[in-house]
Parts: sequence; structure tokens; C-alpha cells
Amino acid sequence: MVRTREVDDRETTATRLLKGSVERSYEPAVDIDWDAPLLDGVFYHPPQRTSLYGTELWDRMTHEQRVELSKHEVASLASLGVWFETILMQMLLRHSYDRSVTSQHVRYALIEIADECRHSVMFSRLIERLGCPPYRIDGYHHQLGRLMKTVVSGPAMWAATLIAEEVLDTFQREAMADDTIQPLVRMVSRIHVVEEARHVRYARDELVRQMSRAGRADKAVARLITARAAYAIASHLVHPDCYAAAGLDVREARRAERANPLRRETLRWSARRLVDFFDEVGLMRGPGMVLWRSSGLV
Ligand SMILES: [Fe+2]
Ligand SMILES: [Fe+2]
Repeated sequence: MVRTREVDDRETTATRLLKGSVERSYEPAVDIDWDAPLLDGVFYHPPQRTSLYGTELWDRMTHEQRVELSKHEVASLASLGVWFETILMQMLLRHSYDRSVTSQHVRYALIEIADECRHSVMFSRLIERLGCPPYRIDGYHHQLGRLMKTVVSGPAMWAATLIAEEVLDTFQREAMADDTIQPLVRMVSRIHVVEEARHVRYARDELVRQMSRAGRADKAVARLITARAAYAIASHLVHPDCYAAAGLDVREARRAERANPLRRETLRWSARRLVDFFDEVGLMRGPGMVLWRSSGLV
């Protein structure tokens, strides 16, 4: 009986999301004017979200350096986005592999994979258009990501997905509404926010269902993997090479970033909604809390 209700819930969510996908989706290859010139001296994301904003080092930087840093931080976020979307696409494929191909739930998983596919192409073009390098994650996390996309399933899969999606989403919601920043970044952000809202709904509903029937051991594993994913994502938002690209000493800049109270504030702001939700579903407890705290997200 409970199981039937769960299947119904799952199908109801997916049916609604499929309808939303038909009504409002984008094709960045045609919906973005990739040839439009970038504006001189204009920030790429709001300056107060730049990792060094408010530090003594920031005060010493020229306007050009600050703009340059904001540009590379956008490219770093987009690179991290592609990394995680690649992991997510594979996890969604594995999730679909075990389920009925004619269910609305699997159909929506396939639509989400198609969305993420377009997003990754869009982020790739954005990085190139900005004239930035693709900022690859370090080798250790690259391998952890490989492990995750190959084996992780269950609640941990949905929770990790939400960390990447909701943290990025908070930054992009602000960027798309800020008419003082580069129009190209605003448009990319708008497209991503609209489509990700459905992904977040899909993952949140599935996480609630899975946590409600997970056993103690599964929950403990989910809490630990989630905390590890939170740490990985939060600590890679800004690739250290961004600082060199803005003409800064990397070690000095990283020290300033770590000690920056405004940066901590930004990290907590980016995860606030998510952390409240994880708390409700029972993910914010256990030994993983040490990782959560060092991630700066709580
Ligand atoms: Fe995406
Ligand atoms: Fe997504």
C-alpha cells in the first residue's frame, strides 16, 4: 500500500515536471547571442560575491584586476558545473537502467539528462567565450568523482545532486537579476535557473521518498557521502589559478580568501535553503558534520 502510494507520488511529480519541460526549455545554441561583445570594465558576477571582496587585498587591487577575477571565478563555477553535470548524467542513466522505460519518472530522468547535456555545452561555450581556461578539479577529486558516478545510488546520489544544483542556483539567481553585470552571464544564469528549478524539485521529492524508507545503515552512509560531497563542492568553487589570472600571488590570495568573513557569509548564504531542507530529512547529523563545518557551508 505504502509502496503504491510512493509510485503514485513519483509519477505525479514526474508528470508535472515533464509538462513544465515542454512549456519552458531553452536551446542555448540559438537562445544566446554568442557573438555579442563583452562589455569593458563590467563585472562578470556581482563584486560582493567575488571571493576576495572585503579583504585588504581587494582594496589594493585595481578595478581591472577585480573584473578579471570575477570573470575567472565565473569560468571556475562553470567548469565545476560541467564536472558535476557529467557525474549526474551518469548517475541518472544508472537510475533509469533499473526502472520501467514507460514510467513518467524515467521519462523525466531522460529529459533531465538532455537538459544537463545542453547545460554542459553552454558552460563550455561560456568558458571559451570569456577567454578562460577550463578549470579542472584536482586529480584526487577527479578520481572521487569517477567513483561516485560509477557506484553511488540511493539517497546519497540525490543529496549530492542537490548540493551542486542548489549552491550554483543561489549564485545564478542573484546574477540573473543584477543588471549591472555582463549580459552574457545573466542570460546563461537565467537559462540554468529556469531548468534547474525542475531538477531540484525532482531530486528533493525523490530524496524525501528514499530517506523515509532507508534503513539506519543506509542513512548513515548517505549522511557521510553527502557531507563529503558538500566539502568537495564548496572547496572547489574558486580554482586557485583564478588568482594568478588576475595577477595576484596565489598563496597570499588563498590565505586572504580563507580568512575572509564575507566569503564565509557568502558560502552559508549559498547553502541556507539546502541545509534547512537536509536538516528536515535527517541528513544533518553524525560524524559527517565535521566535514560540513569545514566546508564553510554551515
Ligand atoms: Fe544544469
Ligand atoms: Fe540539474
